[in-house]
Amino acid sequence: MSRKALIAANWKMNGTKALIEAVNNVLAEIDTEAELLICPPATLLPFFPPSNKVALGGQDVSAAVSGAYTGQLSASLLKEAGATYSLIGHSERRQYQFETDALIAEKVVTAVTAGLTPVLCVGETLQERQQEKTQQVIAKQLAAVYASHPELLVKSVIAYEPIWAIGTGESATPEQAQETHAFIRDVLQSYDNVAAQQVRILYGGSVNAENSAALFTQPDIDGALVGGASLKPDEFAQICLNYQTSAKE
Ligand code: 13P
Repeated sequence: MSRKALIAANWKMNGTKALIEAVNNVLAEIDTEAELLICPPATLLPFFPPSNKVALGGQDVSAAVSGAYTGQLSASLLKEAGATYSLIGHSERRQYQFETDALIAEKVVTAVTAGLTPVLCVGETLQERQQEKTQQVIAKQLAAVYASHPELLVKSVIAYEPIWAIGTGESATPEQAQETHAFIRDVLQSYDNVAAQQVRILYGGSVNAENSAALFTQPDIDGALVGGASLKPDEFAQICLNYQTSAKE
């Protein structure tokens, strides 16, 4: 089963109009096999010129469709600003905004209903890994969404982001990442066998120009969700170039 790779940038609470221009200039020059996605702060979305090369996404979306939710952004607001995707359940939102699995599931439903593709983020803490609870934690995060809504899987992207690898410079090894990606695909098969083969599973956590090519050789790694390195246009472009279907194991 060949899946079209997706390389996504999560700018987090960073970025300027100048960065948009710099990234666009560099990406315009490269020929990559992957689809490209940038998730900037939502205030920057309207400053991206229309592009059929780079899709845009939110970093979060409200579970509510509209109404009195001060500070939140609905799926339709994101769409109007140019987004076709949204990250949902990033570990930084689970940790700092106390987002629960139940809320995250609601957000995935709302996003898909509005026509946004959710990039559902899952991953374990260092302590959970050390206690050999990685699979248990991830199975629970996936079940929260897909056990009751298996029909949403075909419309989703999954990002595996081990929390211990985010912003630490210590990426999972290709083998560690592949092991968990294969596990995720196995779990997803129990919800929708066909969709599980089609769904793209991205790896995130200290992805950079040096380590990405080896990660991308793994059969169940269908792209990356890049934080810090995505703020450096040349490095992000190199990561995009490093995805080569022919190098898949
Ligand atoms: P880093 O690439 O900076 O580790 O961030 C990963 C991440 O959280 C992407 O969503």
